[in-house]
Amino acid sequence: MSLSAADGTAHSATEFRRAKRIGAISVSEILRIGATAAQRRREGRPVIVLGAGEPDFDTPDNVKAAAVRAIGAGATKYTILDGTPELKAAIAAKFRRDNGLDYALDEITVGAGGKQVIHNAFMATLDPGDEVILAAPYWTSYADMVTIAEGVPVAVPGREDNGFRLDAADLERAITPRTRWLLLNSPSNPSGAAYSEAQLRPLLEVLRRHPHVWLLSDDIYEHLVYDDLPFVTGAQLEPALRERTLTVNGVSKAYAMTGWRIGYGGGPRELIAAMAVVQSQSTSNPCSISQAAAVEALTGPQDVLAQRREAFRVRRDLVVERLNAIEGIACRRPEGAFYTFASCAGLLGRHTPDGTAIDSDSAFCRYLLDAVDVAVVPGSCFGLAPYFRISYAASEASLREACDRIAAACRVLS
Ligand SMILES: Cc1ncc(COP(=O)(O)O)c(C=O)c1O
Repeated sequence: MSLSAADGTAHSATEFRRAKRIGAISVSEILRIGATAAQRRREGRPVIVLGAGEPDFDTPDNVKAAAVRAIGAGATKYTILDGTPELKAAIAAKFRRDNGLDYALDEITVGAGGKQVIHNAFMATLDPGDEVILAAPYWTSYADMVTIAEGVPVAVPGREDNGFRLDAADLERAITPRTRWLLLNSPSNPSGAAYSEAQLRPLLEVLRRHPHVWLLSDDIYEHLVYDDLPFVTGAQLEPALRERTLTVNGVSKAYAMTGWRIGYGGGPRELIAAMAVVQSQSTSNPCSISQAAAVEALTGPQDVLAQRREAFRVRRDLVVERLNAIEGIACRRPEGAFYTFASCAGLLGRHTPDGTAIDSDSAFCRYLLDAVDVAVVPGSCFGLAPYFRISYAASEASLREACDRIAAACRVLS
């Protein structure tokens, strides 16, 4: 039997049909690279995967112990939909302590990761065709989340000579009457670029002139900023924007808690209430035990942050130095996160020993995986080519070995 959908396309009654809102989204190249790397490893090849978006450290012991105590105390039931009062109080204290931001408990939301918080915000605010400005290179999930919410991602490329940061004039040009959000992520996944106060202010000035545009500040890498650069966030620098800013953060990256799934946001209460509506009909509350663990992460000893930051800084310097020693590769020193975003423009047009042309960053990354068993992600996955992202959330020994292999692979290109 054949049915006719609203748009006139015919399909059989039993045929699987994807909703249009996810139609254009496919399994990402990042996942494909990960799957290929895993397959090669199973075949016994010594693959080094530098694609992880999570710290290789363990969750701190005090946090684990708090979770065990919570289970013992029976904190194993539904909680208030968007976060326990204890966790919201800990988050409010964190925003005050680290960012000089005052949020009341009903201006705070907690979700299953920063990802759910961002998803809730888009689902709660975007109507079909509404636009969200993303600074490229951007975390791939942003564009897909906007699309699932039936919005339109508008990528504005950052220039490498501007540290991949968004230029204020480019932002101004990208704003239309349909723009709902500007999404800023500092330090950035994938570029590692962070904004200083002087670099952020011109963007906030543009937003001040466009009162219909809200700011979503994804601060998830806040605690991974190096060389004493102070971390700044939009609502803190420009109080006039506070009433149209969602400040997103979480415990995943700072406390090596990616599996616990706790992220949070602070913003105006009408927005927070609308986001609760979305969460109420998807997951309800985030895991009760993880919430108790997150209270300990945010209120317990914080020295682990500085220790891990220093370990990441050493690795960043190692990778940047090694990459820049390779002819054809150029890598700026990122200010934060745990990613380098290096240019492979100098290698385009060369050929591999078996004659394959390196004609794009994807081709280069495929070659590295095939020839020397190193898995890295092409910049085109993040909306900016020709670059490749290395996650240096890996041991120094594997980073050294990976860089040696990349250098060897580049030497034999002709
Ligand atoms: C830029 C950025 N924002 C948000 C997240 C979400 O992290 P989580 O959902 O674990 O809090 C990630 C994770 O990779 C990220 O890279």
